Amino acid sequence: MNDLSRAELLDHELAEAMDKLVIVKSAIYTSGECDPRDPPLRQDTAGRLHLMGHDPRLPKMPAKPTLFDFFNYRFGPAAHMLQSARLALKNGCNEKVILACLVHDCSAAGFIRTDHGYWAAQLIAPYVDEEVAFAVRYHQVLRFYPDEAFGYKYPDSYVRLFGLNYRPEPYLDRAHEYCRNHKWYETGRLLTVNDLYSFDPNLQVELEEFTDIVGRNFRQPEEGLGFDDSPSAHMWRTINWPTRYL
Ligand SMILES: [Fe+2]
Ligand SMILES: [Fe+2]
Repeated sequence: MNDLSRAELLDHELAEAMDKLVIVKSAIYTSGECDPRDPPLRQDTAGRLHLMGHDPRLPKMPAKPTLFDFFNYRFGPAAHMLQSARLALKNGCNEKVILACLVHDCSAAGFIRTDHGYWAAQLIAPYVDEEVAFAVRYHQVLRFYPDEAFGYKYPDSYVRLFGLNYRPEPYLDRAHEYCRNHKWYETGRLLTVNDLYSFDPNLQVELEEFTDIVGRNFRQPEEGLGFDDSPSAHMWRTINWPTRYL
């Protein structure tokens, strides 16, 4: 079978699977585009079952997914995280900082953008040293606050993205204050120092370069992420099966 007819067959199989399923989006996906108080769009559900597992439009994940599987199957372009990790490595940071850099934007890449540092920290917390989760949580906050001692300036990109008049909200001020006085402040700050967008646009970094660091610092559950009953397993399952009805 040539590539074209294989693609056609897959399209056909997908269309058939879609015909048999009712697939809906969670309120959070559409809130804003739609008023979440409005009733959901009516679908013709006669003779169809509501999706309760893998979404046929997505690549299927292995039964016991690893962190790298999530990078490969569910996260958007990860070059930024990989480049941050490589930069931290080059700058002589310790493995906690390098791992934190590698995963710091995983929520924005595959889950939720709003408060992405907090979501990402929660996702990884059961599997990493507390200090790594701390850095990931607070990198989002610290990015808004310069610290000359570390050579960290308010990002020019934030001026472009949010305008000159944007000021962090009081909850961010409080979180910054708390973090600044914390014994792990430096770890969080080092993450922001290495959190650069394409410090070299031509640099290609492979996930496999970090296999050993991840192996030593990320406690990959035997059952696979999402199926290990950890406090964040449900979040990994949601990334795996984002359109499951319940
Ligand atoms: Fe971030
Ligand atoms: Fe980042």
